[in-house]
Amino acid sequence: MRSRSAGSTGWDARLSTPGSPVCTPDWLALREPADAAARDTELAALTAEELGDERPLVIRDLGCGSGSLGRWLAPRLPGPQRWVLHDRDAELLARAEAGLPATAADGTPVTALIEHGDLTDLDPAQLAGTSLVAASALLDLLTAEEVDALADACTAAGCAALLTLSVTGSVGFFPAEPLDAVFGAAFDAHQRRTVDGRRLLGPDAGAAAEHAFAKRGAVTEVRSSPWRLGPGWAGREWAELTEEWLRGWIAAACAQQPDLEAFAADYLHRRISASAAGELRVVVGHLDVLALPGPLPLQGGTT
Ligand SMILES: C[S@@+](CC[C@H](N)C(=O)[O-])C[C@H]1O[C@@H](n2cnc3c(N)ncnc32)[C@H](O)[C@@H]1O
Repeated sequence: MRSRSAGSTGWDARLSTPGSPVCTPDWLALREPADAAARDTELAALTAEELGDERPLVIRDLGCGSGSLGRWLAPRLPGPQRWVLHDRDAELLARAEAGLPATAADGTPVTALIEHGDLTDLDPAQLAGTSLVAASALLDLLTAEEVDALADACTAAGCAALLTLSVTGSVGFFPAEPLDAVFGAAFDAHQRRTVDGRRLLGPDAGAAAEHAFAKRGAVTEVRSSPWRLGPGWAGREWAELTEEWLRGWIAAACAQQPDLEAFAADYLHRRISASAAGELRVVVGHLDVLALPGPLPLQGGTT
C-alpha cells in the first residue's frame, strides 16, 4: 500500500496530486477502522429508534465507496433492510455490494441494489419509499447548492438523513509545532477550492448540512466524530494511516500554497518519524449529522 515516499532533499512531486488518494480502494480500506471507531454510536442508536416499525428499512448510501458505512451501520439497524448503494465509481460499487453484511442484528436479511451514477443528478422522486439517506465522508466534496438540493429532496420525501464523517478543518497534533497551523490553513483553503465551476464546501460541509436541513424544518442532532490517530487508537494500522493521511494532507496544502513546498519534505519526515516512534497523536475533526423529518404542516386552515 505504501507506494510513495518523500525525497530526502526536497519535495517529491509524486505526492503533489491533491485529493487523488481520497477515493481509492486501498485508501478507503486503510481508513475504515478509524472511521468505524470515530462514528457516533448514539446517533446510530437514535436513528434506529426513530425509524420505528417501518419494514423493510430502505437505506440509500450516497457516495458509498467500498461500503464502509454499510458494514458499520447495517448491524446496528433492525432488519429486514434493503440498501441502495449509490456511487459514480463502478469498481467501488462492486466492492460495496460484495461487502454488505447478509443479515441485520436480529438475523433478518439485508439485501443490496447498486445504483451507478452521479448523485447530484438524484431526482427527488427516487427517494419515494426511502427510510434513510445515509452518507459518509461525502459532503465535503459537494457544493452548498448540492447540499441544499439534498436537504430539499430528503425533507420533501419525509426521510431521515444520517450524514457522517464530514471534515471540520480542526486538526490537533500532540505535540504541536508552528507549521501545523500553516499547513492546516492551506489544506482547508484547498478543500474549499473551486473545481470546474463548483466551489466545494470542504470543512464547512457539516455545518452547512445541519443548517440546510434545519431551515427546511428537520430536527437535527450533531455530534463530533473525530479520528484519533496514535498508539492505542484506531486499530493496529494507525501508523500507516497517519503516514498516508499526512502525505495527502501536506500535498493538498502545497498544491494550494506552493511556497510551502520548501518546508514540506522536512515537515513530513519529522511528523512520520514521530508517528512511527509512537510519539505523535493526531485528532482530525469530523461531524456526524442526523436530520429527522419535522412535524407535518397542518392541513387546512382553522380561520
Ligand atoms: C471519500 S469517499 C467515501 C466513501 C465511503 N462513503 C466511505 O465512507 O468510505 C467519497 C465517495 O463519494 C463518491 N462520490 C463523490 N462525489 C460523487 C458524485 N457526485 N456522485 C456519485 N458519487 C460521488 C466517490 O466516488 C467516493 O466513492
